[in-house]
Amino acid sequence: MTQTGTPVLRAEHIAKSFDTDAGTGKLEILKDIELSVALSEIVAIVGSSGCGKSTLLHILGGLDRPNSGDVYWEGDSVYSLKPDKLADFRNNSVGFVFQFHHLLPEFTAIENVMMPAFIKGIGQKTAEKKASALLERFGLGSRLTHRPSQLSGGEQQRVSMARALMNDPSIILADEPTGNLDETNTELILSMLFELRKDRDLSIVLITHEEEIASRCDSLYTLQSGVLTKNELSADLS
Ligand SMILES: Nc1ncnc2c1ncn2[C@@H]1O[C@H](COP(=O)(O)OP(=O)(O)OP(=O)(O)O)[C@@H](O)[C@H]1O
Ligand SMILES: [Mg+2]
Repeated sequence: MTQTGTPVLRAEHIAKSFDTDAGTGKLEILKDIELSVALSEIVAIVGSSGCGKSTLLHILGGLDRPNSGDVYWEGDSVYSLKPDKLADFRNNSVGFVFQFHHLLPEFTAIENVMMPAFIKGIGQKTAEKKASALLERFGLGSRLTHRPSQLSGGEQQRVSMARALMNDPSIILADEPTGNLDETNTELILSMLFELRKDRDLSIVLITHEEEIASRCDSLYTLQSGVLTKNELSADLS
C-alpha cells in the first residue's frame, strides 16, 4: 500500500435531497456524509440500487451542488470556486467515469477521448497521439473512428475510462467502471488503475457492486439510508 495519509479530497456534512414527483415533499438521499480520500488511496463505495452512490460521486466531482455541506480539494472549498476554477477542477484534477458513459454521440471514439484535452487547450497532434495510445492500451486500437453507437457497452465504458485519464487527473471518480465488462477487461481496467496509483499517486473512488473488487481496495464504505459507513476490510483481503 502506497497510501501516505495526506487527504486530497474531503467531503464534510454533505446532504442532498430531491423533490418528490408530486412536489409535496423531499426525498432525502444523502444525510451528513463525511468522506476523506488520501493521496494514492483507492476507496470503494458499495450500496443497493437507488441509495445515492451516483449522486454522491457527482457531488464529489463538482458536478452537482449539495443542499448543505461542502467538498474540499487540497483544502479548498470546491463549491466556493469561481465558475472558471470549478471548470478547471472538473476537467483537469478529476477524471470522471460516468455510469452510463456520457460519450458524445456525434463524435468518434478518439474525438471523445481528446475532448478534455481540447477544453484544456492542448494542440491537436499531441492530443491525438495520447488519445490513440490510451485507446490502444484499452484494447480499442481498431475502434478509433467508431462512433459510440457502433461500439458495444463494454467498449463505450473503456472509451469513457480513456477519456477520464486524458488530462492526467489527480483523482479518478469511477461509477461502476467495470459494470459492463467481462473478466479480461475488468482486470485490464483495474490493473491500469492500480498501476497509475503506484506510478503517480493517483487517488481513486470506485463505485462497485462486485465484492471481489471492493475487497482489493484500501478502504470500503457502504452507503445505506443516506448514511456512509466505513467497513473493516479483513487483513488478508486489504
Ligand atoms: N435529479 C434527480 N431528481 C430527482 N430524484 C433523483 C435525481 N437524481 C437521483 N434521484 C433519485 O435519487 C436516488 C439515488 O439515485 P442514484 O442515481 O444516486 O442511485 P445509485 O445508488 O447510483 O443507484 P444505481 O446503483 O442503480 O446506479 C434515486 O432514488 C433517484 O430516483
Ligand atoms: Mg448509480
